[in-house]
Amino acid sequence: MALRRPMVAGNWKMNGSAELAQDLFSKFARKIKDDSAEVVLCPPVIYLESVKRLMEENKEALSGSLVRMGAQNLSQHQFGAYTGEVSGQMLADAGCRYVIIGHSERRRMYGETSDIVADKFAAAQRHGLTPILCVGESGPAREARRTFEVIAEELDVVIEKNGTMAFDNAIIAYEPLWAVGTGKSATPEQAQEVHAFIRKRLSEVSPYIGENIRILYGGSVTPANAADIFAQPDVDGGLIGGASLNSAEFLTLCSIAMSA
Ligand code: PGA
Repeated sequence: MALRRPMVAGNWKMNGSAELAQDLFSKFARKIKDDSAEVVLCPPVIYLESVKRLMEENKEALSGSLVRMGAQNLSQHQFGAYTGEVSGQMLADAGCRYVIIGHSERRRMYGETSDIVADKFAAAQRHGLTPILCVGESGPAREARRTFEVIAEELDVVIEKNGTMAFDNAIIAYEPLWAVGTGKSATPEQAQEVHAFIRKRLSEVSPYIGENIRILYGGSVTPANAADIFAQPDVDGGLIGGASLNSAEFLTLCSIAMSA
């Protein structure tokens, strides 16, 4: 039986501030006491430095717990004339361990194709970062019963370009587009069904990866619905948007994952 440590990752998107980081850490130090779940903060790049400093300042209070830092995006290129972009090396230098790849907002609003996503996945790993790969179907795709097809396509491009073993150092986040930022989360059953599908698909190429990969659910997770979603056998925690901006709510989600 695989031991998959639950994870709660906060995706601040283009929100938050150094004060939010400060507020979170003042509460973390009292509330996050063990390593039964991993907690990842993904602030905008400009706040990585503040979060890193807070991690160092609170090292003692947080000893025994797993609080880590991630970014929300990276360039697929190593360096060069790419105005406004940030490379994997830069994120690693800033102290990131994780990076979100292929979030639906980036696919939809910034033209990130599955091909680009696959290159970003490789770029992350090249610099020792663990990609948190987001996949998910739109509302119309779900209504047309194309959920599995869409997810399989998004996964397959990354598998084809990077190989299945690349998933040994990756996390997947199932984020149905109709649930992201809408206040309408997937039901625990809907999440479990897709998570089981993702695990099975990876198991077909590597039973080891299928059993061990952590699959997070994302999309309107709140303290009110998290316990039932996180309790599903193939759900290993959550990628949290809106609720990660409220330190009390985020900490409640962390506690729920710790007892899941
Ligand atoms: P949400 O966002 O929790 O606000 O729905 C989740 C995400 O986009 O990662």
